[in-house]
Amino acid sequence: MQRLNLRGVILSGGPASVYAAGAPQVPSWVFEQRIPVLGICYGLQALVHQLGGKVVPGQKQEYGSAVLHENATGSPLFKGLPSSFQVWMSHGDRVEELPPGFSSLAYTDNSPVAALGDGDRIFGIQFHPEVQHTPLGTTILENFIFSICGCQPDWTPGNFVGISIDRIRHQVGDGKVICALSGGVDSAVTAVLLHRAIGDQLTCIFVNNGLMRLEEPERVQATFHETLGLPLLYADAPDRFLAGLKGVIDPEVKRKVIGEEFIRVFEEEASRLGKTDFLAQGTLYPDVIESESPENRSSARIKTHHNVGGLPDHMKLKLVEPLRYLFKDEVREVGLELGLPRDIVFRQPFPGPGLAIRIIGEVTLERLDMLRACDWIVLDEITKANLYDELWQSFAVLSDTRTVGVMGDFRTYGYVCAIRAVTSQDAMTADWARLPYEVLAAISNRMVNEVPGITRVVYDITSKPPGTIEWE
Ligand code: XMP
Repeated sequence: MQRLNLRGVILSGGPASVYAAGAPQVPSWVFEQRIPVLGICYGLQALVHQLGGKVVPGQKQEYGSAVLHENATGSPLFKGLPSSFQVWMSHGDRVEELPPGFSSLAYTDNSPVAALGDGDRIFGIQFHPEVQHTPLGTTILENFIFSICGCQPDWTPGNFVGISIDRIRHQVGDGKVICALSGGVDSAVTAVLLHRAIGDQLTCIFVNNGLMRLEEPERVQATFHETLGLPLLYADAPDRFLAGLKGVIDPEVKRKVIGEEFIRVFEEEASRLGKTDFLAQGTLYPDVIESESPENRSSARIKTHHNVGGLPDHMKLKLVEPLRYLFKDEVREVGLELGLPRDIVFRQPFPGPGLAIRIIGEVTLERLDMLRACDWIVLDEITKANLYDELWQSFAVLSDTRTVGVMGDFRTYGYVCAIRAVTSQDAMTADWARLPYEVLAAISNRMVNEVPGITRVVYDITSKPPGTIEWE
């Protein structure tokens, strides 16, 4: 561990109880290094348990918002914070006895010890500073990282671009690289960074699966090939995807069909290039956290279509993942630094399976075109109202429910279309957006008037959890 030149360690939360069989332990090197340590939730409990204190099952679980009251210890962890502030709790066990040499730094109504420390090196907090519901949590993390550990906030997109280009050149040498472009910000930034580093050793492949938004394939080609000058192979495959989706209504089967077809088309395109050595992917740090990887051996589910990680073994491509340790906001800063157009950099996320998981029931060309038209109206009205950048995602969902309407003097019988708009930091949780009534009215009015087959429009007011952002 010495070679990592660590400045400090943060022990995260987790679902275990310190007394459970196989509960994660703090490795002994953490204590031997004599560097600052911050335990969060389970991390605090593990510290207490291993350093000679006592953790017991709480009388009742503490879940949700609580008010934290600081003891007047002058701890550097709480520097610059008021004496009481709101925190987010989520725990069953609690600290009953402090380890020798530790004192309590703060309490809540349900936790007599909600924060503890040994003075200036080892700290533990029972609440979660990393979630939005602890509004001052970032200050606590900054205090630990910058003041206590002595790290410098010297990350800039410019530094990152320079360092990444050197690393990519070193890794790739004179090898050939392929990159799947989706039109989204992650793959776009990856491709442009690679192109800066290795020029024409990179070929991008864009698979048009026919499940994209209105004019999206044309836009991707124009931006990447014509404007940015990236070598681009374009695979026009809507018919193949539609054929695979015929009769499929189960969301998971849709995802599987689309994922497998994507791999087939991608493989065929890649084989035209002759020998290829590397596959570039826009993997971000949240993907690394959610997947099994050398950094994370927990067996969490791997997102099905996020990357082309499902490529067959026989392709034997080594991975180039320059954004592996970045979050979305950092990727966007790097995109701007690289001169990517703002509409790509600030594009709302769009799922790999595309509109197929926003059409409830069977995906047909007719229904895709209907949804594309509705989706375009949502985008247009949201943009006109200057709301696009405020929303994490905003889109239309085509239901398979038909209802009766009246237009002119005639009876109509068409589909219900839903508007979905959410705010979020990271898509793990999301809130339905309080869109102004005028915007909802304009969208609804246009959908029923401009899109044949739509007779009714509803607004989805479900947050995540318990809903998900996408309907399928
Ligand atoms: P949910 O619907 O699970 O979505 O709340 C969370 C975020 O992930 C996107 N999403 C996907 N992205 N492949 C992707 O690349 C997928 O299969 C997929 N499913 C959902 C969704 O749009 C939202 O941003």
